[in-house]
Amino acid sequence: MDFQNLLDDIAGTVAASPPRGEVAAYIPQLGAVNPDQFGIAVVTGEGEVFSAGDANVPFSIQSISKVFALALVLATDGDGVWQRVFREPSGNPFNSLVQLEQEAGIPRNPFINAGALVVTDRLLSVTGDAAGTVLDLMRQESGNPGVGVDPVVAESEHLHSSRNASLAYFLASCGNLENPVPDVLDNYIRQCSLAMSCVDLALASRFLASNGVRVDGTALLSSSQTKRINAVMLTCGTYDAAGEFAYRVGLPGKSGVGGGIVAVVPNNLTVVVWSPGLGRSGNSVSGLNALDEFTTRTGLSIF
Ligand code: DON
Repeated sequence: MDFQNLLDDIAGTVAASPPRGEVAAYIPQLGAVNPDQFGIAVVTGEGEVFSAGDANVPFSIQSISKVFALALVLATDGDGVWQRVFREPSGNPFNSLVQLEQEAGIPRNPFINAGALVVTDRLLSVTGDAAGTVLDLMRQESGNPGVGVDPVVAESEHLHSSRNASLAYFLASCGNLENPVPDVLDNYIRQCSLAMSCVDLALASRFLASNGVRVDGTALLSSSQTKRINAVMLTCGTYDAAGEFAYRVGLPGKSGVGGGIVAVVPNNLTVVVWSPGLGRSGNSVSGLNALDEFTTRTGLSIF
């Protein structure tokens, strides 16, 4: 398959359309990003890298980090976390509070903010440094030692974290946090504030497309665990737009409010898009369009 031509074509289509969606202004530093950017990268099972547009520009990965934190918890601590978080789509916005009270402090899934706070809490208990463990994994899998936390984004998110703080305190009130709320929030915010490019992320996500095998050939996850993470990405990775994402793209995917989306063709390849303008559910509009075009033109979908 001629991925290079295809990616160039997709980048050209996006560049010819006006910028779409709105940047995530609720974290002011993300609101300052130029919306007129688009990148796309593919990494194949053989490790070939194809890219187009702004694929080497680092951006804030935000909720994409939640997949890696979950993978690390499952890898280091087994299935215990599933006692503390469900695996059902929420049908609600990613930072919604309502369901959490109705369901007695057990978040619907590990990718909404409440669920990710529980996962980060567990990773913190197991490793002593949840964000640092996610960062190490990202550096090792991407092969880029320059991957790091963007301190300006982290500070901006800290200063505007009332919603996540309320979720975290509610979790604590239900006995569903093991660590002090400020520590959990700090680790969560730092993992969300990692800056990576499409190419970095497509490389770092390869274990999701290779039955859990890391770049050094060791197993991070079993193939069964990898299947399960991909399944939760499909059903919950794009929040209350997961149905639309499955319909249009037909792949497990995880978005972030920085405008990135990681998608996985199991046993085959990873494809990452980035464009900062978001739709109503917090997913990149041009990114979704690009992934739709990618799977439609290649037939590379799980369906
Ligand atoms: O906690 C937040 O609101 C952000 N750090 C992450 C949210 C996010 O990326 C949702 N994804 N589309």
